[in-house]
Amino acid sequence: MALLEIKKYGDPILRKKCKEIKDVDSEEIKKLAEDMKTTMYHAHGVGIAATQVGTNKQIFITDIGKGPLTVLNPKIIKKSKELVRDIEGCLSIPDFTFSIGRARSIEIQGYLLERGERVSIKAEGLLARVFQHEIDHLNGKLIIDRAPFVQRRKALKKLKKMRG
Ligand code: NI
Repeated sequence: MALLEIKKYGDPILRKKCKEIKDVDSEEIKKLAEDMKTTMYHAHGVGIAATQVGTNKQIFITDIGKGPLTVLNPKIIKKSKELVRDIEGCLSIPDFTFSIGRARSIEIQGYLLERGERVSIKAEGLLARVFQHEIDHLNGKLIIDRAPFVQRRKALKKLKKMRG
């Protein structure tokens, strides 16, 4: 197991669309998943997606306190129309939080590595929020893109200063 470097805002990999993983059972994927998990727990995150560790494969991991879920090739099947607004952070944009509206409930389909098969998972509350956040990552989208206008403008100014 290895700790991976978490890519930060401004790194172009965070804007890449991830590619479907064909060989879901490969040793390479298992190793990547283990390393991502180690990295996520070390950073005290509730989720981590491939682009955040510098690879554009469709894989994310989440653990909201009930054990890890490693999801490959996720697709959103259903989404509630009702949105819930809450504060979100991201390991790739440390020290910033944004108020983000997300669907209250969601159903996704994907290959669940812990089960070794393709499953559908229904989620609401925090898990639904994390699923949407991580799937955004796999599409090259970040919370700052979804932040309310004033929050986004303020954050962009600060981030620009920090990056020089
Ligand atoms: Ni994130």
